[in-house]
Parts: sequence; C-alpha cells; structure tokens
Amino acid sequence: MEKYNPKLVCFSCKFGWGYLTEEPALASKINSWIPVVCSGKIDTSHILKAFRAGADGVLILGCSEGHCHYQDGNVQTKKKVFLLQKVLETFGIEPQRVEIRFSLDPEGKSMPHLLNKMKENLIKLGPVKRL
Ligand code: FES
Repeated sequence: MEKYNPKLVCFSCKFGWGYLTEEPALASKINSWIPVVCSGKIDTSHILKAFRAGADGVLILGCSEGHCHYQDGNVQTKKKVFLLQKVLETFGIEPQRVEIRFSLDPEGKSMPHLLNKMKENLIKLGPVKRL
C-alpha cells in the first residue's frame, strides 16, 4: 500500500515570513507555497480553491498581532478562518485542516518545520473528504 502523502498549501505574509531569504531558495523547501502581501488578503475563496485543487490542508502564516502592516489584516483573516472552520465542519471536514499562525520569521527558517508538523497532523486525519 502506498504511503499517504498529504498535500498542503501554505500562504505566508511577505512582511513577516521569509523576506530575508531568496524566494526560490525558500520555495525549494516548501511545496505549494504562496507568498502574499498580507495574510489579510487571503479570502475564504482562496482556501476553498486550494481544497478543490487537491489540498488536504491549508496553513496560513501571518504577522504577529499588532505587527500587521495593514492594521488588522491578520486578525480579520483569523476571523475568516474561524468561520470557515465552522462551515467546513458542517460538511464533515475537520477544522484542523485549516491552520493560522501569527509570528515573525524573517529568514523563514521555521517554515519547513511548521509545514512538516501540520503534515504529520494531516496524516493522522487521512485524506480530506472532497467538496
Ligand atoms: Fe503581515 Fe498583514 S502585513 S499579516
């Protein structure tokens, strides 16, 4: 039997994550990585599109609270994620499949570790029920 390898999409804010590292170098360590100008730019439709495209989970990395360059874009996305998790749950999709974290990591060194950690959690959940 083939080992289950979950697909994970990672959105990260360019102002808080990995901006001191060349994007191609960081991209080589992170599959399906989508740097964005602010986590507040991520809409629920982007997350749902990732699931429809085959993702088993979505990780969003935003700036720490109080450090968003667009006032409270990160907090607004946290609210969107919370509501989306509730909706996904009604369709039998585990809310843990969408995770949002706020911090700052200019070199992006912790990003591969965070992705691997979420992948481990997704392996425990198994493949996502498709929308
Ligand atoms: Fe980084 Fe808004 S600028 S989350």
